[in-house]
Amino acid sequence: MESIDLSGNGLNSSRIGLGTWAIGGWMWGGTDESESRRAIQSAPDRGITLIDTAPVYGFGRSEDIVGRAVAEGGIQDQVVLATKCALEWDDQGNVRRNASAQRIRQEADDSLRRLQTDVLDLLQVHWPDPNVDVRETAEAMAELKQAGKIRAVGVSNFTPVQMDQFKSIVNIDVAQNPYNLFEREIESDVLRWAEQNNTRLLAYGALCRGMLSGRMSVDRAFEGDDLRKTDPKFAQPRFEQYLSAVSELDKFAREHYGKTVLELAIRWILDVYPQSVALWGARRPDQIDAVAGVNGWALDSDARQAVINIIDRHVTDPVGPEFMAPPARDSA
Ligand SMILES: NC(=O)c1ccc[n+]([C@@H]2O[C@H](COP(=O)([O-])OP(=O)(O)OC[C@H]3O[C@@H](n4cnc5c(N)ncnc54)[C@H](OP(=O)(O)O)[C@@H]3O)[C@@H](O)[C@H]2O)c1
Repeated sequence: MESIDLSGNGLNSSRIGLGTWAIGGWMWGGTDESESRRAIQSAPDRGITLIDTAPVYGFGRSEDIVGRAVAEGGIQDQVVLATKCALEWDDQGNVRRNASAQRIRQEADDSLRRLQTDVLDLLQVHWPDPNVDVRETAEAMAELKQAGKIRAVGVSNFTPVQMDQFKSIVNIDVAQNPYNLFEREIESDVLRWAEQNNTRLLAYGALCRGMLSGRMSVDRAFEGDDLRKTDPKFAQPRFEQYLSAVSELDKFAREHYGKTVLELAIRWILDVYPQSVALWGARRPDQIDAVAGVNGWALDSDARQAVINIIDRHVTDPVGPEFMAPPARDSA
């Protein structure tokens, strides 16, 4: 497994990270705690050494499960724990942005407790908050670093302008943004900024919420609060378009490389930007069985262009990941 130094001072991570949003259950139709724990504990054996979570994932549940799985599995020294801050929620499950210094301090302490650790390897501001000066947010993160509560600083879903403002207060080690074969919006701004500033990218939604797994079909029934019930990519007529692109991508991967579309999708992220980590969401151990198939080969720029051409032929009405953005506090 390829690895990367996230902070420039020895915070090494595999280039595939385990995403644990679904493990929290919220917006994914519930969770199976014992399967989730097995998935987390199997990660280091497969070479995955970064686990990405957030307080909001199941309102503490994902962090609780990660903390327990890591402690009981005795894998503390083998994994980098990445979490987030700056979203708040109420008893009804309404989520709002809150990147105030007070909220960030409180959440960092809550995350340390849930994750059963003395220091968070990477803390990321989950979403920018239009109601809080970005300098206040950045100063709070700088204080946490100085206090030794966090090792590295990240921002998520920030624009280049917001990152420039943030960076004038404290260095950004990592930017976390949506990036996968079907969601390439950041190529025109954030990715360019990351290249220019030598910043690592945690590419989230690497499988486009399972669309690129090769196992998705129009018959798939989504349970409970599963976000794919309202995800515009999973609604017709787009659903058919994306799935027909997946079929041809799978054929391309098999014919040219002896690989599956899932392996192609992850490999593509790693090869577009060498400073990236692909965040692969999984909630059962078998879902990360294909990790080994991502290693040891590469997509050159011609192959990457051929892949994009396939998508453009099938997806005539593309849509981005904007539907996932949580509201600000004053837009309730
Ligand atoms: N910073 C942010 O704002 C933000 C936003 C979104 C995500 N993230 C991070 O990025 C991570 C990854 O994104 P994501 O979890 O949204 O989506 P993803 O990685 O694109 O897709 C994850 C889903 O794909 C399905 N899947 C995974 N492996 C599979 C396999 N081998 N075969 C069949 N299906 C498979 C599973 O869904 P089923 O189990 O339902 O089949 C899984 O929950 C998150 O967990 C989170 O850590 C961050």
